[in-house]
Amino acid sequence: MRILILGGTTEASALARCLSGRSEFSPLLSMAGRTSDPRPLPIPTRIGGFGGVEGLARFLVEERIEAVIDATHPFAAVMSRNAAEACAQVRVSLLALRRPPWTAQKGDQWIEVSSMEETVQALGDEPRRVFLTVGRLELPPFAAAPQHTYLVRTIEPIRDALPVPHVITIQDRAPFNEASERALMERERVEVVVTKNSGGSATYPKIAAARALGLPVIVVARPQKPRGVEEVVSADAALEWLERHHGRTP
Ligand SMILES: NC(=O)c1ccc[n+]([C@@H]2O[C@H](COP(=O)([O-])OP(=O)(O)OC[C@H]3O[C@@H](n4cnc5c(N)ncnc54)[C@H](OP(=O)(O)O)[C@@H]3O)[C@@H](O)[C@H]2O)c1
Repeated sequence: MRILILGGTTEASALARCLSGRSEFSPLLSMAGRTSDPRPLPIPTRIGGFGGVEGLARFLVEERIEAVIDATHPFAAVMSRNAAEACAQVRVSLLALRRPPWTAQKGDQWIEVSSMEETVQALGDEPRRVFLTVGRLELPPFAAAPQHTYLVRTIEPIRDALPVPHVITIQDRAPFNEASERALMERERVEVVVTKNSGGSATYPKIAAARALGLPVIVVARPQKPRGVEEVVSADAALEWLERHHGRTP
């Protein structure tokens, strides 16, 4: 069974590992190519866009794909919409593998916003020390608030994405742990944390560390994903769906 996994997440990689060595499945993992040195995986991989809905629909037919697993990041809204439209057009089954969002716990001081522009507003006029963990591509709106000092952590170098006077950069990738997140925030005298509501455990320690230190967290809500697509929350559940859906339980 030919499967296309739309990846770029921990969950997509976990599913790729579950499927490797299963002779009844022939999976292909697709990544956008945003990370220059992605971690190697034990299944065939392709990199780069398909060329919108039409390009993806053509790819599905040409590659004789029988099921698509949309395991893109919760903030990758365009790819998910394209997948829903292309799969409907060429009648290929689609499952979304999506981790649940984080929810505020007792002691959290969350400020929930719906865009990066709103986040910039929520930081206020007074200069603050901001831990910015939103991804390299989301940095430009923060140039509108050059009074703050930004501690920016990204996977790739940020180059000139945030042209403000006070920027400290860290290149690192998840998973993180609470003790080191707490130590980092204390050392850099962080006053406020900014994050997308990505969900999952790999980047959650910054939320727990902020709670422990009594720091506010500005949480950017997820964009709308296409409705009417069946969803699961784990790689194991996606594997069960693949087995059940095609009646090939070993
Ligand atoms: N946005 C985030 O916060 C975030 C965080 C961590 C990881 N990621 C991962 O990074 C990738 C890109 O995210 P994004 O926010 O730029 O997505 P996006 O805005 O939804 O997608 C923009 C375009 O990138 C291409 N693309 C996206 N995901 C792809 C994939 N898995 N395989 C092939 N092409 C893909 C598609 O190009 P075409 O139209 O040409 O097909 C898509 O139209 C995704 O795989 C996502 O899972 C995103």
